[in-house]
Amino acid sequence: MSRQRPVALIDRIASEISERGPMFFDRFMEMALYDLEAGFFGAGRLRSHRTGDFLTSPEVSPLFGEALARFVVAEADRRGDLDVVIDCGAGSGSLLAAALPHLGDIGAVAVEVSPAARQALAARLPAIRVVGSLDEVGGRVRGVIVANELLDNLPAAVAVRSVDGWLEEAVIVADASLRATTVPARPEVMEWAVRHAAALPPGSRVEVQLAAGKWLRTAIGMLDAGAVVVIDYGDTTAGLADRRAEGTMRTYRAHHLGPDPLLEPGATDITMDVDFSALMAVAESSRAATEYTTQAEFLTTWGLRQQLSTLRHEELAAARTGSTMERLQLRSRVTEAETLLHPRGLGDFRVLVARKSHQSPVSSPQQER
Ligand SMILES: C[S@@+](CC[C@H](N)C(=O)[O-])C[C@H]1O[C@@H](n2cnc3c(N)ncnc32)[C@H](O)[C@@H]1O
Repeated sequence: MSRQRPVALIDRIASEISERGPMFFDRFMEMALYDLEAGFFGAGRLRSHRTGDFLTSPEVSPLFGEALARFVVAEADRRGDLDVVIDCGAGSGSLLAAALPHLGDIGAVAVEVSPAARQALAARLPAIRVVGSLDEVGGRVRGVIVANELLDNLPAAVAVRSVDGWLEEAVIVADASLRATTVPARPEVMEWAVRHAAALPPGSRVEVQLAAGKWLRTAIGMLDAGAVVVIDYGDTTAGLADRRAEGTMRTYRAHHLGPDPLLEPGATDITMDVDFSALMAVAESSRAATEYTTQAEFLTTWGLRQQLSTLRHEELAAARTGSTMERLQLRSRVTEAETLLHPRGLGDFRVLVARKSHQSPVSSPQQER
């Protein structure tokens, strides 16, 4: 019996378009990223590691996971009964690997949609549970659910402002290629755009992040106590306004900006700036209290600048008395910590902490002084 070759992803997308008509962009993104045979995350290799396609904060330095662990332990100390950290979109496991030694009795679960990443997680962190979706975690959670650079990858629709109102971008096949067109916007897309992008001029392009909102609502809904922490690039609705002429959707491959998302579905990451105002609205409607900061502020609150200062002193001491190897290792740890805090890079990422509103915010050691 001959084995059939799998149909290329682009051909399956084209065939769905010919059966059902223009494909909304969120469906296109779902297939391009998460298709289990050929999607960028769904198939093939692990993407988020140093030799992969992008470098995230946990991959840059273990100090990121350590700072997050201090936040989790402080939350648990105040509440008394948090018992788990759930890393959703855990990638290679670098965040949990760095955090685990500092979590005491608090356990960990990794949630990963990518089979390659799940395999890597099971090999690297054999003591923790690895599941494929938040739903699989099961039961009520007293703990902290973290999502670092997850929500920018969740499928989004694209709304386009016309002089008469909102249209929606959809994918069609023309001249044997995938092309973008506009069609009347679906009601839920129009409603989101009216709510979060009403002030924009005609021609504006807005990523309608319904799946990100749904993820946050689900995560908050799972909590009996604790918090959801979303860390990502993005801004408030107002802060994103001047990026809306073109929209913020873009692709990455091998650490560089890639081509138009329609050209090579499955071969590139597709990502966008996260609208944190829309997420805060979801959190508030889920009766969660929100705190919104930059990554640099969050990591400073949880001790990273103090660690950086200690490392710089150790580096100076090593320059006087240590070996070249020791000095170089300290230099590299200093550079990594500085990268996490850089005001025009990772330090400008945003952090949203959403807690059930009957809980008061936790004060950090720095704030207590
Ligand atoms: C940009 S990577 C970030 C990985 C990791 N959090 C880090 O900071 O290094 C996004 C990860 O989220 C995973 N992912 C995407 N959608 C997911 C979902 N709905 N549930 C769980 N994991 C998901 C992808 O497979 C990928 O490993």
